[in-house]
Amino acid sequence: MPGFSKLTTTAGLPAVNQAKEFACGNKEICIANVNGSYSAIDNICLHQGGPLGQGTIEKGKVVCPWHGWAYDPKTGAAAHNANAKVAVYPLKIENGDVMVEI
Ligand code: FES
Repeated sequence: MPGFSKLTTTAGLPAVNQAKEFACGNKEICIANVNGSYSAIDNICLHQGGPLGQGTIEKGKVVCPWHGWAYDPKTGAAAHNANAKVAVYPLKIENGDVMVEI
């Protein structure tokens, strides 16, 4: 059934301008913190499956640690090709819990 699942608490969120990966059921989710604004995207890079949550944030984009593909964490679009998009998931914070809708 669709719905929001708890990923972590606010204490577990990445620091400003960092990304972090989380397991959610059989999915891996990357949460990006761009200047205090959080986004949840698929953790798997479209190039060769690199873990985006282990990447960096540069100029507001999540940069894959393997070969540097960069993604807009709000739209999921790859910087070099807007047709290449990772999934973006709704995220909400309630009572200190961080929830995503997969
Ligand atoms: S796997 Fe992400 S850039 Fe190659």
